[in-house]
Formats: sequence, structure tokens, C-alpha cells
Amino acid sequence: MEVGPGVFVPRPETELLLSWGLEFLADRPAPVVVDLCTGTGALALAVATTRPDATVHAVEVDSTALAWARKNVGETRIHLHAGDVTTPGLLSELDATVDLVLCNPPYVPVGTEVPPEVGEHDPFRAVFAGTDGLAVIRHVVNLAARLLRPGGAVGIEHDDTQGESVPALLATRKVLTNVEDHDDLAGRPRFATARRN
Ligand SMILES: C[S@@+](CC[C@H](N)C(=O)[O-])C[C@H]1O[C@@H](n2cnc3c(N)ncnc32)[C@H](O)[C@@H]1O
Repeated sequence: MEVGPGVFVPRPETELLLSWGLEFLADRPAPVVVDLCTGTGALALAVATTRPDATVHAVEVDSTALAWARKNVGETRIHLHAGDVTTPGLLSELDATVDLVLCNPPYVPVGTEVPPEVGEHDPFRAVFAGTDGLAVIRHVVNLAARLLRPGGAVGIEHDDTQGESVPALLATRKVLTNVEDHDDLAGRPRFATARRN
């Protein structure tokens, strides 16, 4: 997989979200998986490589990031969509058919001080999402609730300050149950998951 100017460099933390997702898929033959905010295509590629029986869709709004994703996805059977997760009706053709939604979105509150490798190299739009960092995640929660089939699941990476707010957003949707938050290897809250009832 290649990275370069204009696309977020995948981080080790996201491997935890991936591992959770792959474990969830273990007893599901031919699953349908959607990677929202795909950036380089990292999560979509990892799922497609590990599960050749999966149908994988990936969505990205930024044209430069999308170009990197297109390059990385290459001739694989991943369906890459140019799209904005805040657009009503996005991927409506997949409504209630998806087994797993994975998302590592922008989630840092605007104004937060970040290390130089983030502030000087990652695209702003890949990192920051409104004053509370939840501007994109709010839409991801609603989109996941619409896309998931009964019994499906969603996993969303978040900032270590959002270990309560992201589960609370998931819990606002009555169709989503079993809401849980998960720590990273440093013991910080890192991603939240829920099941579609
Ligand atoms: C933190 S990066 C994560 C990229 C990739 N998922 C990963 O784990 O390496 C977030 C990505 O979301 C994209 N993004 C931001 N807002 C979006 C939106 N409204 N709809 C779709 N993608 C969006 C950014 O362009 C960026 O590529």
C-alpha cells in the first residue's frame, strides 16, 4: 500500500478496530463490509485480503485521498465510492444489507494541539471534525444504522476523550444495541462498537 502527500498515514491503533471486525466476521460467510472514510483504503484492503469471500465497499470524500485509494485498491474487487458520509441517501442501494461497517473518521476537536507529524503532514480534513470532534461521527452513526442488516455490527475509531460520547451517540439509535467501548494497547478509549438488532 502506498501513501503520500494529501492522504492520512494509517496508524497502528486502527489495527485493533480491524481485528475486532475480522473476529466479528469469523462465522459469517460471504459478508458485505463497508469502510467509511477509507483514506488510503487501508481497512478495506485488509478486510478484502483476509476475507476473499467478502464484498467490500469503501467511501472517501477527498479527491486526493481517493486517488491514493484508487491506486492501492488497483485491480482488487473492492468497490470504491467517491462520497460524503454526511450526504443523505449515500449508498442507499446497500440499505439493510451490510454485515459490518468499519470507520476510522476524522475525530480530533478543532483547536486541539497535535504533534507535528499530524499537524504538518496529515490533511486537516482527515484529522479534525468540528469543535467537539464528532461532526463526522454523528453522520457515520446514522449511516451505519441504515446500512446494517439485522445482526450486523459497526465499529468506529475515536479520540481518547470520546470514550463516553461516541457510545452515547450509538445508543441514541434504538436499532443499535450491545454498545461497547474498547481501549487501545496504551489503555486509552479508542473505538466503539454496536450491533444492529
Ligand atoms: C483519519 S483518516 C482515516 C483514513 C483510513 N480510514 C485509515 O484508517 O487510515 C479519515 C479520512 O476520512 C475522510 N473524510 C473526512 N470527512 C469525510 C466525509 N464527510 N465523508 C467521507 N470521507 C471523509 C478524510 O478525507 C480521510 O481520508
